[in-house]
Amino acid sequence: NRKPIVAIDGPAGAGKSTVTRQVAQQLNLLFLDTGAMYRAVTWLVLESGIEMSDEPAVAELVHQCQIELIPQQDQLGVCINGRDVTAEIRSTQVTANVSAIAAQSVVRESLVKQQQAYGRTGGVVAEGRDIGTSVFPDAELKIFLTASVKERSQRRQLELQQQGLEDISLEQIEQEIAQRDYKDSTRSIAPLRKAADAIEVQTDGLTIEQVTEEIIRLYHQKI
Ligand code: C5P
Repeated sequence: NRKPIVAIDGPAGAGKSTVTRQVAQQLNLLFLDTGAMYRAVTWLVLESGIEMSDEPAVAELVHQCQIELIPQQDQLGVCINGRDVTAEIRSTQVTANVSAIAAQSVVRESLVKQQQAYGRTGGVVAEGRDIGTSVFPDAELKIFLTASVKERSQRRQLELQQQGLEDISLEQIEQEIAQRDYKDSTRSIAPLRKAADAIEVQTDGLTIEQVTEEIIRLYHQKI
């Protein structure tokens, strides 16, 4: 008898990470950021100097690597092979290359297996692109979080500025987001798609708190 699973999917920059972390905190469930796992593998590939397109080499790397997600007070810590890459996986270089890594079947098989292991006993709020369609198709609650490209780009720019990470133009961010959406929704394995039984939440003009509240309301309504 497993505890509930909440699946939150949606395109890049829809605010999934922050919202999902807060939903998990308030419901006292485990927060599973699957994008962070694809990002960690991408960071490792870049670090190793392997070509993104060298699938056999990437496969070997992903089979040998160990990813840990460590809940911290205000963020989710991510380690790969014992190295803390929490900040590094948000770099523009990782972001620009992650979709190419996430499209590879061996990478997905390996990471999805780990994600499903987290969900075996339930009690998880998982976010990504294929959670409701492929990782946890029997999740009790499925949310599809969207926002216009403009809104998502503005949020991402603010986020980057707050972290003091990089100073990128809005046009550049818009282009990057549209490109990543395209790659993620047109790949052959588990593309980004709203599950038939997912509830779409359009977040333009809403704050993180409002979106979090809405998902919690839907959760109590369903469970
Ligand atoms: O959500 P985030 O922006 O961190 O995701 C980074 C990338 O990881 C996505 O653009 C996508 O290519 C990949 N991803 C995926 N499946 C998931 C989560 C993320 O393919 N469930």
